Amino acid sequence: MPETSHPRQFTVKRIESLNARPFAEAVQLAREVVEGQLVFAIGAGDDLAQAMIYASRGGKTLRGFLALETARLHSISPSAAAPAAAAIEAMHAYSLVHDDLPCMDDDDLRRGQPTVHRKWNEATAVLAGDALQALAFQLVCQAECPPERRLILVHSLATAAGRRGMVGGQMADIAAETATTPLTLDQIIALQAGKTGALIRWSAKVGALMAGAETAPFDIYGENLGLAFQIADDILDVTGDATKAGKRLNKDAEAGKATFVSLLGLDGARLRATQLIEEACDRLSPYGADAQALIDCARFVIARES
Ligand code: IPE
Ligand code: IPE
Ligand code: MG
Ligand code: MG
Ligand code: MG
Repeated sequence: MPETSHPRQFTVKRIESLNARPFAEAVQLAREVVEGQLVFAIGAGDDLAQAMIYASRGGKTLRGFLALETARLHSISPSAAAPAAAAIEAMHAYSLVHDDLPCMDDDDLRRGQPTVHRKWNEATAVLAGDALQALAFQLVCQAECPPERRLILVHSLATAAGRRGMVGGQMADIAAETATTPLTLDQIIALQAGKTGALIRWSAKVGALMAGAETAPFDIYGENLGLAFQIADDILDVTGDATKAGKRLNKDAEAGKATFVSLLGLDGARLRATQLIEEACDRLSPYGADAQALIDCARFVIARES
């Protein structure tokens, strides 16, 4: 079918309301919106399309939720922000597909299912990841806001994903596995700010960027949330239940990696995560009850079991 016969983007039905929703409902909405956008954009068919859709399903959709919810907080409708929410989930899915490859973490299980290279093969996993990354940029160009703000969205997504963001953090994480001296706390904080933090920070400021509003409160909320999220990931790696987590655990100690838990101890890591979340929530106090779902998200991040 020629390209021009497709509508430009997936239409988000029944969700134009800007009223606040409870966290669980808002996450469910984000899941539906993101899945609808991605299935529409990827289309049906070959192994590559199937692997891309497979890789983008089954997660918590926290980054997509953050994008939609911070948009709502700035009176931007779900349908206007949906392409940005789908873009960040596509970027995240690509990062996980590549993270699981034999040359990286060599994992067989993700979200309770075989990893993409296990279900298909390594070449398909590399290419599905590549295509998901390209798709993220294609989608973010469809966010409905003035063109100069859309350009800022695209540029900041590239920065968050690349050498100074997620990929740079992944590189530092891999290097740390073979380093002769374990990383210090400050080095781990810097590494995680890239590896996990950059995409979360971007998600949390989507609404402010689209609205041309002040990003500072969301930068701080996103930064703290990202760091607390990774501390929780490190805690889960030690104390979690692999069935609930849907992935292999105890990997960090096996790999001899310094983590927040190895450096701060379990109680110290929990305390640090709680302090970060309290500070993140404080930053949202000017938004009052309208920010409740974002506050509940922050609390969920450190209480989660998967
Ligand atoms: C897992 O992220 C990888 C890290 C960045 C630690 P999530 O825990 O958000 O993964 P899904 O999307 O819910 O599977
Ligand atoms: C993955 O970090 C982070 C990215 C994919 C950017 P981890 O390797 O710690 O994540 P899990 O534990 O495999 O989910
Ligand atoms: Mg990894
Ligand atoms: Mg991994
Ligand atoms: Mg981990």
